[in-house]
Amino acid sequence: MKYKRILLKLSGEALMGNKGFGIDQERLMEYAKEIKAAYDAGCQVAIVIGGGNIFRGIQAEKGGMDRVHGDYMGMLATVINSMAIQAALEGLGVQTRLQSAIKMEQICEPFIRRKAVRHLEKGRVVIFGAGSGNPYFTTDSAAALRAIEIEAEVILKGTRVDGIYTADPEKDKSATKYDQISYDEVYSKGLEVMDLTAFTLCKENNLPIIVFDMNKKGNLQQLLNGEAVGTLVVA
Ligand code: GTP
Repeated sequence: MKYKRILLKLSGEALMGNKGFGIDQERLMEYAKEIKAAYDAGCQVAIVIGGGNIFRGIQAEKGGMDRVHGDYMGMLATVINSMAIQAALEGLGVQTRLQSAIKMEQICEPFIRRKAVRHLEKGRVVIFGAGSGNPYFTTDSAAALRAIEIEAEVILKGTRVDGIYTADPEKDKSATKYDQISYDEVYSKGLEVMDLTAFTLCKENNLPIIVFDMNKKGNLQQLLNGEAVGTLVVA
């Protein structure tokens, strides 16, 4: 296996499947099965998931809500998604621990880095909820931060496109996919991989990023086996 410890970043929207809101059970189970396959292969898996299928802080701001207030509501939405992933994984017999950046001890552990690492070493999938616990930071930033903290070898950004393209492939048919690209090229070409705070955190800590299609069955497994899946961003 190419990577022994990964941080998998999933978007909240992806959990909606074809629904307009909330969690699509079928999609949730598909993701859980993909993650289980990685776990069964002996990979240490940590997960950060967004909350956009339930609540988006930025949109709430447009509606007149205070940004910070909206961001906290978004963080709570990530905890709901994290609990859903946790339940789905445990239903498949995968051991998990959920840690939240905002204390809610009745439902999960608080985020404690050393405990998270210990859980991974003991073969538990660790899910990090509530983002980084701070407003103005995205779940991509939380994912980058947690990946660095737990010394993951790579951050895997599961999306609905199969990598980074020269232009938006949904708008420009002539766009081509990069197999590999450097951090500097991403900056200079103005490509959108993650928001800049998250991306800079990865670059400064030399954390490779792989953008890949999480909706394609077997993709995660192939990626872990070292096959060329998605786009790799490195120095
Ligand atoms: P090890 O001691 O390394 O084996 O880890 P462990 O997670 O099995 O031990 P611990 O006794 O800390 O946890 C037992 C169970 O309680 C696990 O399912 C944890 O997720 C859960 N747990 C631990 N701390 C908290 C907490 O603060 N809140 C909630 N809700 N659950 C917790």
